[in-house]
Amino acid sequence: MEHIQIAIDGPSGAGKSSVSKAAARELGIIYVDTGALYRTIGYYAREQGIAVDNAIAVVPYLDRIHIEVRYENGVQCVYLNGENLGDRIRQNEISMYASAVSSIPEVRAFLLDTQKKIAAENSVIMDGRDIGTVILPDAQVKVFLTASNEARARRRYIELQEKGMPLPYEEILADMNRRDEADRTRAIAPAIPAPDAVILDNSDLNFEETVAALLSIVRRIAAEKGISLS
Ligand code: DC
Repeated sequence: MEHIQIAIDGPSGAGKSSVSKAAARELGIIYVDTGALYRTIGYYAREQGIAVDNAIAVVPYLDRIHIEVRYENGVQCVYLNGENLGDRIRQNEISMYASAVSSIPEVRAFLLDTQKKIAAENSVIMDGRDIGTVILPDAQVKVFLTASNEARARRRYIELQEKGMPLPYEEILADMNRRDEADRTRAIAPAIPAPDAVILDNSDLNFEETVAALLSIVRRIAAEKGISLS
């Protein structure tokens, strides 16, 4: 069977990872979370005592970093110099480091081959910010998953409340606006849709409806291109 590459890009809070994971399960292909790679470099930078506003200082260390992505029971595990970092890369502080290192061209270049190699060897649904534009420009299916800032901030607000870490809605919305602006306007790999991406706005869709909408886009395009899916 021909490998299929499905690229999912979009801003944070649109549900890319959970939706992609569910779609991957349904299609019997692997889900690749590329944010985890930037988080791993961010984690390393913090381990080295590098300040988040001086993330560029991680560049000379890149040749000491070995990153390996393995799939264990269908779950993506990222190994940093032989150690599985697990959920340590999900800490809030690491999100800030990940964002900082992701705007450094040397870091993006460093992670390019890892991402391309996984997609060359497997059928994948890969999510990130530049998958359809830079990493997999020839992906057969490209979707830009987005939602209004208000819808994304509302979801984050509910999620934080459920986790017992409530923040005022206005604060979440303001942070989200700031981050989106930085991602969209950065000089390298700005988080914008590929010209041939299908835009899926899920502001008014719940999780199940979003997964169904994504799968229907994938199946329609696969049929048009004569690609067989499991
Ligand atoms: O999706 P995430 O929150 O785990 O991503 C962490 C950071 O990495 C986020 O600030 C955006 C950045 N990122 C990126 O620039 N390019 C990608 N392909 C994936 C993530």
